Amino acid sequence: VGHIDDVQELKKIKPSSIPERFVRDMIERPKLATATTPSSCNLNIPVVDLSKISNSQDFHNEIMKLSTSCEEWGFFQVINHGIDLDLLEKMEKISMEFFMLPLEEKQKYPMAPGTVQGYGQAFVFSEDQKLDWCNMFALGVEPHFIRNPKLWPTKPLDFSETVDIYSREIRKLCKNLLKYIAMSLGLNEDIFEEMFGVAVQAVRMNYYPACPRPDLVLGLSPHSDGSALTVLQQGICSSSVGLQILKDNVWVPVQPIPNALVINIGDTIEVLTNGRYKSVEHRAVTHQEKDRLSIVTFYAPSYEIELGPLAELVDENNPCKYKRYNHGEYSMHYVTNKLQGKKTLEFAK
Ligand code: SIN
Ligand code: FE2
Repeated sequence: VGHIDDVQELKKIKPSSIPERFVRDMIERPKLATATTPSSCNLNIPVVDLSKISNSQDFHNEIMKLSTSCEEWGFFQVINHGIDLDLLEKMEKISMEFFMLPLEEKQKYPMAPGTVQGYGQAFVFSEDQKLDWCNMFALGVEPHFIRNPKLWPTKPLDFSETVDIYSREIRKLCKNLLKYIAMSLGLNEDIFEEMFGVAVQAVRMNYYPACPRPDLVLGLSPHSDGSALTVLQQGICSSSVGLQILKDNVWVPVQPIPNALVINIGDTIEVLTNGRYKSVEHRAVTHQEKDRLSIVTFYAPSYEIELGPLAELVDENNPCKYKRYNHGEYSMHYVTNKLQGKKTLEFAK
């Protein structure tokens, strides 16, 4: 069959075995790495109710919960986030419609290596690198100059408009979350907004077809996010699990909560908080029967911004753990290297 590395096409031809490029070394295979004890199976990432943050009675408790989530998990789910469910559903619908287009149509928007915009597999730089069991479609959204109009699909018809409306809503959510995060650290609530400049925002749809041997492959290689914050939509229409986060050396699955969004701290916030809030390693696994879709928004500072641990969070008990660096250079470093746990964060050391 030659070099078929588009997993949706692979699924159609039903090969008798998983092509070598997708078969992980023993150590990386999901079952082996997931030495799940009964107690870790019961672990669930925290849930933060955003409606409680705007209610003066519950404000303190919920901000404390947010703080503990960011320190101990680097992940939490938000409920009552204020984003219209119809919009979330619409976003899933147009994403699915895009992935269901014929390959030739999708290939009109090819992802160039080191760009993470367009259709294909991101973060692949060598022939001997293992491939993820995933098709991606990614777009730079804000500010407008990062958009590549040639990569915005004409099908489905309402794709671009929906991505625009969705991105505006998610942007508001990110700005609010950053305020809450600042408050939870005892900082001025506008500190991140003021520091970030015009924030860079990108969206990526990940489509993981069912895999006959989920024990041999990974949907997405382990990594931490190069963003400040990431918003992940999973399980609005479909509800299959697949996201796992590394907690105390155990891969813990994130159980989708209907209508909730998963938020995670990215490398930027880990650096700014001098490691107090964690950018946690995560990965995606596949399912034997079910396809899975996730929609991910990355929210990050403007490229020209210089970053380093905030003076407020550094003292003799918390010596400075990261150097100052330019965020544009960090982003470039991130997208031109393969995903490999928290390795990209070493750039800041
Ligand atoms: C991601 O980390 O970008 C996505 C993980 C997922 O599909 O849940
Ligand atoms: Fe991620």
